[in-house]
Amino acid sequence: MGDFMIMKTTKIEITVYEAGSVNELPAGDAALLKEALAATKQSYAPYSKFNVGAAVLLDNGEIITGSNQENAAYPSGLCAERVALFYANSRFPNVAVKALAISSAVNGVEYDEPAYPCGNCRQVLLECEHRFGMPIKVIMGGAKTIKIVHSAKDLLPLSFELK
Ligand code: THU
Repeated sequence: MGDFMIMKTTKIEITVYEAGSVNELPAGDAALLKEALAATKQSYAPYSKFNVGAAVLLDNGEIITGSNQENAAYPSGLCAERVALFYANSRFPNVAVKALAISSAVNGVEYDEPAYPCGNCRQVLLECEHRFGMPIKVIMGGAKTIKIVHSAKDLLPLSFELK
């Protein structure tokens, strides 16, 4: 207690939407998540054997997919989300990202838990949001539960940015 007694506190609240299966999602979100699941098949993950797929929906309707790409020198690999986002941004540098769906699989079977992006990917998502001034919906798919937030900011409160 001590010092905390004199401190002001604030509560940060985020809204997480949840669905039990892809059939409960709006058609666009379901289609994007299916693309992410399909992209897990393109993953190169001989070390972790954890296959991640990501699908980016751009403001021009284009969908770009990516998958995790590992390396024997572990840190040289890259997550599916950043492979997809960086590729989308380099092909379409002037087109905003509207949504990102993520899926994961082990031995070709979709993982039960939602695929939550790592901290580095959250930072990259946030940059993308700021860059285009448009919130990115993040659809985190799992075989048993799907979680959705309507902005990358929800995944990274009190975040670093240079203004
Ligand atoms: N991975 C992703 O591709 N995305 C995430 O959000 C978390 C982790 C990858 C990195 C590595 O290839 C494997 O999953 C196991 O950590």
